[in-house]
Amino acid sequence: MIIAVDGPTASGKGTIARALAAHFGLPVLDTGLLYRAVGYQTQLDHGDPDKAADALAACDFPATLLEDPALRYESTGSLASRVSVHPPVRAALFQRQVDFANQPGGAVLDGRDIGTVIAPHADAKLFVTASPEERARRRHAEMLGRGVEVSYEAVLADIHARDARDTGRADAPLLRAADALLLDNTALDRDAAIAAAIAFVEGRVGRSS
Ligand code: DC
Repeated sequence: MIIAVDGPTASGKGTIARALAAHFGLPVLDTGLLYRAVGYQTQLDHGDPDKAADALAACDFPATLLEDPALRYESTGSLASRVSVHPPVRAALFQRQVDFANQPGGAVLDGRDIGTVIAPHADAKLFVTASPEERARRRHAEMLGRGVEVSYEAVLADIHARDARDTGRADAPLLRAADALLLDNTALDRDAAIAAAIAFVEGRVGRSS
């Protein structure tokens, strides 16, 4: 069984993908991490993330980079969003994601284009979202909890910028697949959102865990 989980930044899609993976006993891939590694490697190489050639050269990042805590930084998320607009970068990361999706037994992948491009044949697709203000509120609280000094307004502005770039790019933009469940969790807590996701997948594949 392949489960595709897409959605904008800070929507909770990673949490839902991990919960689905645990519930159904499937491996999970956070595809955003691949783009984050490319963005961060571009910076390490003193390249320009807005130049396709520089970003493409960074697609050769070492596997150990995926463990680097710096990939979780907000600034790295921004770099990832910038390198991800380049078609050659998306092409370079494509096969790795397709292979993960099609491994025997199935998988859960979360990202922006899983249900539309990477696994259009997925058994269940979810599009996880929440209002920009709610996503900013959660991201801001999480950053303050980590001791990062940042204003709510700055976080909200970053979320708007990321949404515009991820949705507006020509190649594989952030888009809800026609057959994806829209899971707007603006007014849901974590457990309710996870329960809704599990119920949807169980209904979709016609079996319970
Ligand atoms: O999910 P995330 O915030 O870690 O993703 C970081 C950036 O990577 C996101 O702004 C756009 C890009 N991305 C993408 O283009 N396609 C994906 N499947 C996953 C992420």
